[in-house]
Amino acid sequence: AKHLGDELSVVLHTEAELHARLAELAREIEADYADEPPLLVGVLKGAVMVMADLARELRFHAQMDWMAVSSYGAGTKSSGVVKILKDLDSDITDRDVLIVEDIIDSGLTLHWLKENLESRGARSVRICTMLRKPDAMKVDLEVAYNGFDIPVDFVVGYGLDYAEDYRNLRDVAILAPHVYGGEG
Ligand code: PRP
Ligand code: MN
Ligand code: MG
Repeated sequence: AKHLGDELSVVLHTEAELHARLAELAREIEADYADEPPLLVGVLKGAVMVMADLARELRFHAQMDWMAVSSYGAGTKSSGVVKILKDLDSDITDRDVLIVEDIIDSGLTLHWLKENLESRGARSVRICTMLRKPDAMKVDLEVAYNGFDIPVDFVVGYGLDYAEDYRNLRDVAILAPHVYGGEG
């Protein structure tokens, strides 16, 4: 079988860096939600790793819920039109919600999701993401907790997939361009 690391070009952030940054974000989150912990809402499937690690960094009770969403239309690019494949189990009326994501690319998924959750009567909806691609963003999106800004390269690992592979890679790495037919 192919080794996980065989077709990567460079490691952007090691597992240790990701964990250290999450610990910093967790301290901010604890301070900001000192009165009442937020409901953590993870976006399947990419967010599973950051959710697991962030939740365990937090020193208060961290309830978790999950949504699965998908963009309509063919192609790999997000269209901004989102379909709910799995909805929350919880009623979020009057709750503080913290969306937990692996990456913000165009920002279209979270732009839609934030408005959707606000429309359900949440008291507040904020965003925590491990990674963000500032140069790929197509919408203005307020991100309360951001791990790292990264370039627009195709990145995998720590929940991020290429054709469903690489999610279990511990680091975040740039995929070798020949794998997906890119340049270089
Ligand atoms: C990826 C990623 C984010 C979203 C970001 O999810 O995990 O959820 O795309 O893209 P955007 O900012 O352009 O909207 P994907 O749809 O690949 O599903 P997955 O999490 O199951 O891999
Ligand atoms: Mn995702
Ligand atoms: Mg994906």
